[in-house]
Amino acid sequence: MWNERYSNSEFVYGTEANEFLKEQFRQIPAGGRVLCLAEGEGRNAVFLAEQGYQVTAIDLSDIGLNKALKLAAEKGVDIQTQVADLADYEFGNEQWDGIVSIWAHTPEATRQRVHTQVASALKPNGAFILEAYTYEQTTMDSVGGPPASQQQMLMSLSQLRTELVALTETVGVEQHRMISEGTGHHGLSAVVQFVGKKK
Ligand SMILES: C[S@@+](CC[C@H](N)C(=O)[O-])C[C@H]1O[C@@H](n2cnc3c(N)ncnc32)[C@H](O)[C@@H]1O
Repeated sequence: MWNERYSNSEFVYGTEANEFLKEQFRQIPAGGRVLCLAEGEGRNAVFLAEQGYQVTAIDLSDIGLNKALKLAAEKGVDIQTQVADLADYEFGNEQWDGIVSIWAHTPEATRQRVHTQVASALKPNGAFILEAYTYEQTTMDSVGGPPASQQQMLMSLSQLRTELVALTETVGVEQHRMISEGTGHHGLSAVVQFVGKKK
């Protein structure tokens, strides 16, 4: 499905980084190693590389990641990419200064698996930055997020607080905000934003 969605030259979510990431990326130690989860066509990875980070982008879609490499080349930065499924990806121990999860909607069991590995995968003082749609998004008129038939791919702040309890929360908000990200995400949307630092 994702390869099909990414298969024309348009960048479905645009080429500008996510606004919440732009506000929060400085919580990741400067120049550090950053892993971008479910990174699709690479707009967030390329932005972080432009800020001086060493970035690895992972996603299920090889077509998306090839577009990410093309975008990086156009912007004159290097990123690493890896086709991987979050359902069985191994994060390693103290590997990353930052882990970024922007609209990484997966089945609940995969999300819980990922989140329980985040704290050990981060280096001390590393940061985890997440924005995702909440359950309420299925009632909004905006475009974006899993459909109501895939409710379990949505999430709440209280679930994130449970799954990411090993981190020190520096941002934890559920809110409605206007989103304008290509043709894929737009309008007043119901989101959760979370930043946690490794103790
Ligand atoms: C809404 S897009 C977000 C892309 C990117 N993070 C962004 O903000 O532009 C969701 C992405 O999740 C990826 N994805 C979905 N399930 C995944 C999984 N199990 N493992 C890795 N990537 C996955 C899809 O291929 C898709 O690129």
